[in-house]
Amino acid sequence: MTRLLEVNNLRAGYGLFTVLRDMSFHVDEGEIVALVGSNGAGKTTCLRCIAGLIPSKSGTISFAGLPHPGARPHALVEAGLVSVPEGRQLFPSMTVEDTLLVGGATPRARDKRTESLKRVYSLFPKLMEREHQLCGTLSGGEQQMVAIGRGLMALPKLLVLDEPSLGLAPTIVKQLFQTIEQIRDHGVTVLLVEQNVRTVLRIADRAYVIENGGIELSGRAQDLASDQRVVDAYFGVGSKESI
Ligand SMILES: Nc1ncnc2c1ncn2[C@@H]1O[C@H](COP(=O)(O)OP(=O)(O)OP(=O)(O)O)[C@@H](O)[C@H]1O
Ligand SMILES: [Mg+2]
Repeated sequence: MTRLLEVNNLRAGYGLFTVLRDMSFHVDEGEIVALVGSNGAGKTTCLRCIAGLIPSKSGTISFAGLPHPGARPHALVEAGLVSVPEGRQLFPSMTVEDTLLVGGATPRARDKRTESLKRVYSLFPKLMEREHQLCGTLSGGEQQMVAIGRGLMALPKLLVLDEPSLGLAPTIVKQLFQTIEQIRDHGVTVLLVEQNVRTVLRIADRAYVIENGGIELSGRAQDLASDQRVVDAYFGVGSKESI
């Protein structure tokens, strides 16, 4: 299996505040890898660092066998590492179609925009029905589809999703996770952060549990799903899982 992303001994944070202490993990081509952990554990910080949005303090990241270009997000998108941020970050007064086309405006993806748009609409038929609707008037689930679709338009090798299911009803979450599996089946590797731990462990190949800025546990998703420490912390009554 080809290693797509490798993170070694990563330290990162904000100013003098260190969030990630010593983080090491990897993602192989064709996998769905989940990062889970409690609020404030450092999951989003980790994704920001990988996406080049904040600099690392030490440690190494390599993507597709090349050294990480640092805090240069556009260079990472061009190399095929595309992020869908926490909270979707759509422009409310832009239409669905314009938002998707902007996602495909990068130098590598631009010539293939028509083809990519067709692919996104076949994955999310609902978006084609709503192509001229303003993003600010879409439901939460539809907005998440647009955010993922915009990421796919940039032709990712690795699609990074930060809490795609946040605020969505359980039936919509189920559909969303099926779509994430379809995206992987179309050849896009997926790294995602999720608080719906039980559900994400059903679709992920492997997972890492992050606590206090480091990896606490890791392994095959199906093994972690039956690990007592994961069950106690994230499943069932009084656990951290929201649905
Ligand atoms: N821009 C920032 N400036 C300073 N501190 C920050 C900033 N963003 C996050 N932090 C802090 O870094 C720590 C980790 O935050 P992070 O957003 O990575 O957590 P998380 O695991 O994604 O949590 P959640 O599950 O709530 O999204 C928190 O203590 C948070 O307050
Ligand atoms: Mg977060």
